Amino acid sequence: MTEPLRLGIAGLGTVGVGVVRIVQNQADLLAARCGRPVVITAVSARSKAKNRDVDLSDYAWEDDPVALAKRADVDVFVELIGGDTGPAKDAVQAALKAGKDVVTANKALLAHHGQALAETAEAAGRVIRFEAAVAGGIPVVKALTEGLAANEITRIMGVMNGSCNYILTRMQSAGLSYEAVFDEANQLGYLEADPELDVGGIDAAHKLAILSSIAFGTQVDFDAVELEGIGAVTIEDIHQAADMGYRIKLLGVAQMTGRGLEQRMSPCLVPDTSPLGQLEGGTNMVVIEGDAVGQIVLRGAGAGEGPTASAVMGDVMDIARGLRLPTFGQPAASLRSARAARAAVSAPYYLRMQLLDKPGALAKVAQTLGEAGISIDRMRQYGHQDTSAPVLIVTHKTTRTALDEALDAMADTRVVVGTPVAIRIEEV
Ligand code: HSE
Repeated sequence: MTEPLRLGIAGLGTVGVGVVRIVQNQADLLAARCGRPVVITAVSARSKAKNRDVDLSDYAWEDDPVALAKRADVDVFVELIGGDTGPAKDAVQAALKAGKDVVTANKALLAHHGQALAETAEAAGRVIRFEAAVAGGIPVVKALTEGLAANEITRIMGVMNGSCNYILTRMQSAGLSYEAVFDEANQLGYLEADPELDVGGIDAAHKLAILSSIAFGTQVDFDAVELEGIGAVTIEDIHQAADMGYRIKLLGVAQMTGRGLEQRMSPCLVPDTSPLGQLEGGTNMVVIEGDAVGQIVLRGAGAGEGPTASAVMGDVMDIARGLRLPTFGQPAASLRSARAARAAVSAPYYLRMQLLDKPGALAKVAQTLGEAGISIDRMRQYGHQDTSAPVLIVTHKTTRTALDEALDAMADTRVVVGTPVAIRIEEV
């Protein structure tokens, strides 16, 4: 096939402009690798007048992305608007129904409506590709869907929000509080317009939910992700964790257990010598474990014009080459509805609490843990203040249920001041 593949691009923000630049600057390379030219016929964005520092004069303009999605001269609708409702969703549905393939970077849309969209696409005989929705430039969707397709995936882990990793690593390197680094990141423009999407773990949880579906053959279930953001991580915990050889990361973990599918996005301690522990700044990392392949570590830029546009164009080129894969790696009707398992897999925990400095206080804490079946691995008391002292405890493996039971009981001992901090230590 030598007919050009014609793109309609909706959304001309950082990523949309990046896609236009690749199509314009790499036309020969794209044509050579696809065996046909890749061209843009029409574009759409909120403001036509905005200066984007890229030449759009050869392309038709549509104010309405839905109209763009239905144009006869568009083969592939490239959705870079964002948001799980409104114009992005309307336009993607319109494109599929009008017989267009879809390439999108929209993680929220897929996390909330992935199953329905996959069914719509299959019914229409079209494909939806979304490499750019997960971990920016890292080809993790492709790795799972294609290169690792013969593996039973046992676990996926990842640092998939660069802003959170920037905040946590900057807190550690500069010795600054969460609040100070949050303000700094906001001023540098590193955070989403609604920062809660980043620091609340929501953006990263969208990505985890999408990867879980491909990895475990299940319907995307964002609501089943146990979610905790980084807002409560203190510089004290970062320092104490570092002292014990750990780093704190906003870590996504998905694994199929005997009790169902466990999906978590929460701050975790990981060994500072591990690839995840050494991940600095705004970079992303995804770790995939498969029964045949073992462990694969993918690392790279999770956001930004070039990396995200690179992922969008990889999908476009697959379509240009005639590669047509089911949305989540297998027919939509075969994706199972998985039972959600809350932190089913046991792990060691880091506990930090303030104890009254009086006889028997430590014994009461140890007894409370013991009664919940939790064994202490390491313990340290440091920096006595007037009437109390901070205590760090690393437990042996336990379940979150047992830990919660122990933490509840600790409140009744009257020796713990305030609320203890509990952070899972992930074996990576
Ligand atoms: N805000 C995200 C991040 C990029 O910081 O990684 C878009 O998902």
